[in-house]
Amino acid sequence: MIDFSKDQEIIKNIEAVRLFNEGKERFVYILTFGCQQNFADTEKLYGIAAMMGYTPTQDVGSADLILFNTCAVREHAEDKALSLLGSVKAQKKRNGELLVGLVGCMCAESTSVGRIKTDFHYVDFTIEPSLLHLLPSAVFTALSTRKRSFYYGTESFDFPECVPTLRQERHRGLVSVMYGCNNFCSYCIVPYTRGRERSRGSAEIINECRALIKDGVKEIMLLGQNVNSYRSDIGFPELISAIARIEGDFIIRFMTSHPKDASDELIDAMAEYSPKIAPFFHLPMQSGSDRVLSAMNRRYTRERYMSVLGKIKEKIPGVALSTDIIVGFPGESEEDFLDTLSALTEAEFDQVYAFIYSPRVGTSAAKLSDPTPREVKVERLSRLLSIQDEIAKKKNSALLGLTVRVLVDSEEIRQGKRVLTGKTDTAKPVHFESEFGQVGEFINVEITKACQSHLIGTERK
Ligand code: 5AD
Ligand code: SF4
Repeated sequence: MIDFSKDQEIIKNIEAVRLFNEGKERFVYILTFGCQQNFADTEKLYGIAAMMGYTPTQDVGSADLILFNTCAVREHAEDKALSLLGSVKAQKKRNGELLVGLVGCMCAESTSVGRIKTDFHYVDFTIEPSLLHLLPSAVFTALSTRKRSFYYGTESFDFPECVPTLRQERHRGLVSVMYGCNNFCSYCIVPYTRGRERSRGSAEIINECRALIKDGVKEIMLLGQNVNSYRSDIGFPELISAIARIEGDFIIRFMTSHPKDASDELIDAMAEYSPKIAPFFHLPMQSGSDRVLSAMNRRYTRERYMSVLGKIKEKIPGVALSTDIIVGFPGESEEDFLDTLSALTEAEFDQVYAFIYSPRVGTSAAKLSDPTPREVKVERLSRLLSIQDEIAKKKNSALLGLTVRVLVDSEEIRQGKRVLTGKTDTAKPVHFESEFGQVGEFINVEITKACQSHLIGTERK
C-alpha cells in the first residue's frame, strides 16, 4: 500500500507543479469513458489535480490540462476516445502550454500506447490505471521538460490509500473496495489492464464510508471489477453488513459481481439489511448457453446461475435484477443464441445491458475463429432487445399504483415544469414533477406510468 499523502516523491512533484505554475490560474477538464470504476478514478484525478493547483472546469476550451480517462472493454469505446482526442489537436496548436494526457485502461495495452506514441504526438503522457497516483510526476515532466512520458507495464499493482477525491455528485460516494480481476473470462481485457485482484483493508473502507455519510452522501456505491470476491481481514458480506450498520439515512449499492462469488452469506446480508442495502442485484450472465459459457471461461452453468438467481428472488422480497449479455461470441450458433433468449425469458431481468462481442487483442477469445457475419450478430442483438423490452415493461408495470422511495439525482425544466429524475431502491429511473424536492433527497413517489426503460410518478407526502 502506498500512502499518497505521505509519499515523498508524490509530494515533491505536486509542489514542483505548483511552483512551476505559480501565480497563474489553472484549469483541468476530464472526459470519462466506461465503467463506474473509471468515474471513481476520475474523482481521484480531480482531487490530485486540485492539489497541484488545477481547478475543475466543464469547459474544455478553457482547460490547461485535459485528461481522457479511457475504456478498453470494447473497440467502440477506444475509437470514440481517439476520435474525440482528434478534436483537442487544434486547441493544442493554439495554446502551446496546454497539456493533454490519456489515462485509464487503453493506456495499459502496448498496442494502444504504441499508437499514441507514433500517431498522436500532441498527447503529452499516458498513465495506466494502476499508476494514476503518478499524475503529478507526468504533469511535472511535461511542464518542465516538454518530454512525453508513458507510464505502463507495471508488475507491482500496488495501490495508494489517502488519495484526495473531488466528488462529482454531492449525494453519491463512489468507493473502490478492490481493484483488478483474476477471472480471465476469455473475451475480457480487464485482467490485463487492471491487473490482479487486491482488496483494501476493511477499516479504511468503513472509515471512508462514515466520512462520506457525515458529509451528506445518500448513496454509497461500492466498486470493484469483481466486487463480491473482496477479501481482506473480512469478506464482502461482512464488509457490506458493517457499512449497513453505520447510522444514517443512506442506501448502499455495489457492482460488479461475478455469479461464482454470489454466496448465500451475501444474499442473506442483503436480505437482512434491505433496503439499506439496495434490493437490487446486477449479476452478469453473459450467455444462456453452457457451451458458450464454458468457452467464455465463466466457470458456471446456466443451471447454477439460475439457482443463484432463484435464491436472490426468494430471500430478498421485491428485488430487481439486471445483467450483461454478450451477443455473437466466436462460434455462437443460432441454437446457443436461442438458449440465451430462453434464459432471459426464464430469469425476467428488470434490465439487460447487451453488447455485440468485440475482439480484444491479447485475450484468448481473440484467437478463436469467428465465422458469424456481423449482420447476423446485429440481428440477434435486436431480437434480444425486443424480447427484453417486453419483459422490462411487464416488470415495471408491476409498480403501477405503488408508492416507492426515490433518491433524486437531477432536476430540469421541461415545458415550464420542474421535473426531477431519480432512482428507486431497485435502481429504476423515475421522472416526476416537484416544486420543492432537491437533488440528493429521498422522496416518496406514486408510480403512474410504466415504460420499458423508466417510470413516471407523482410526488406523495
Ligand atoms: N466484447 C463485448 N462485450 C464485452 N464485455 C466485456 N468484454 C467484452 C468484449 N470483448 C461486456 C461484458 C461485461 C461488460 C462490462 O462488458 O458483458 O460484463
Ligand atoms: Fe472481465 Fe470476467 Fe473479470 Fe468481469 S469477471 S472484469 S468480465 S475477466
